[in-house]
Amino acid sequence: MNVMIIGGGGREHAITRCIANSPRITKLYALPGNGGISELAECVNISAEDIDGIVSFAQSHAIDFAIVAPDDPLAMGAVDRLEAAGVKCFGPDQKAAIIESSKIFAKELMTKYGIPTANYKVFTETDEALSYCALSDYQLVVKADGLAKGKGVTVCESFKQAREAVMSCMRDKAFGRSGERILIEECLRGPEVTVLAFTDGKVIVPMLSSMDHKRAYDGNKGPNTGGMGVVAPNFYYTPEIADQCMKTIFLPTMNAMNAEGRTFKGCLYFGLMLTKDGPKVIEYNCRFGDPEAEAVLPLLATDLFSIMLAVRDERLSEVDVKFIDGASCCVVLASGGYPGKYLTGYEINFGESGEVPGVEIFHAGTRRENGKYFTAGGRVLAVTAVGENAMQARERAYDAAKCISFEGMRYRSDIGAQ
Ligand code: AMP
Ligand code: GLY
Repeated sequence: MNVMIIGGGGREHAITRCIANSPRITKLYALPGNGGISELAECVNISAEDIDGIVSFAQSHAIDFAIVAPDDPLAMGAVDRLEAAGVKCFGPDQKAAIIESSKIFAKELMTKYGIPTANYKVFTETDEALSYCALSDYQLVVKADGLAKGKGVTVCESFKQAREAVMSCMRDKAFGRSGERILIEECLRGPEVTVLAFTDGKVIVPMLSSMDHKRAYDGNKGPNTGGMGVVAPNFYYTPEIADQCMKTIFLPTMNAMNAEGRTFKGCLYFGLMLTKDGPKVIEYNCRFGDPEAEAVLPLLATDLFSIMLAVRDERLSEVDVKFIDGASCCVVLASGGYPGKYLTGYEINFGESGEVPGVEIFHAGTRRENGKYFTAGGRVLAVTAVGENAMQARERAYDAAKCISFEGMRYRSDIGAQ
């Protein structure tokens, strides 16, 4: 089969690494890919958001199967367009991708079907939102309704901060149309867990749990980022909690989407918080997490491409999805300044990082030129190590990270320290 993967970050590199040797793939393309992916697939300079370009490439290159990995093209209907052109896809259609692209849709779905989540209110008027913040006696979280590259959420410590978050979304339009409607919700407390799950709308198969580290600096300080590192499995996620999540969250979500005529096929991301009142949903994403994919996929024992084909054809119940014993730790190496302004184009020196046992280095923002690699994004590399346990995985990931250098390189030193 001729296969293409849409996207060019660490997540797409991790997916590509899993499928590149599949005997069923004759030719593999990445649109646009990156420096690391270019070792495994032919990278084509078409942006993940150029849906017309993607569809015409698929047609001119006889693509049989497409993996649409990032949120933007999913929300823009890339899967609908490709399927209509005869290309089978892994990923939800636009009607189902709304579970991520509208936080208000997700909240209303959870309320309608009794899925546990934080209490919330929706606002379309700045003044009303501000009065609500002023009167509230509990800690608030302000969220833009639409996609905002992971930056649309503010956990507010004070009324002043809530006020600034509301003004920035609604008056200053910091997230454009995504912030025209906002959600204000109660702040939940407890450990966070990510569970990625394969679903074809008939069955839902959770992968190993993981823990993302979203804040920029050690000790969970600083601004939210796309994610600075991950450990898998998540220490807090016991088999009892997993059972409870299956009954109260995973199956009800799959069934709710079916009942709404929005059958979800692909990877459904559950961002959960384990509160004292039980697990609650913080957010859904319609895709693999990044960097969760870079930590979870190296532990997958079943052939990923077979799973993806089965999801597309609604045969997931026939596949035995297995993970290896052990743990993984992924440390993101970022450009100086990220998640704010940063410079790119610096040469990356990998040193002896490849010699550390159990290590896989995924490229997030890199480009390859004459056999050398240069920085090309905020998150540059995702250094993952697999070990017999979390401690060993963590030691290996940091041993490898210490071998790597580029101008301004920065990473958190406490991934998995809990
Ligand atoms: P999101 O983009 O929705 O994942 O939100 C980013 C981060 O904000 C989450 O990973 C949480 O750490 C935090 N967050 C979002 N909603 C809440 C909430 N209701 N209570 C506490 N923290 C939250
Ligand atoms: N790591 C969080 C996300 O992918 O949204």
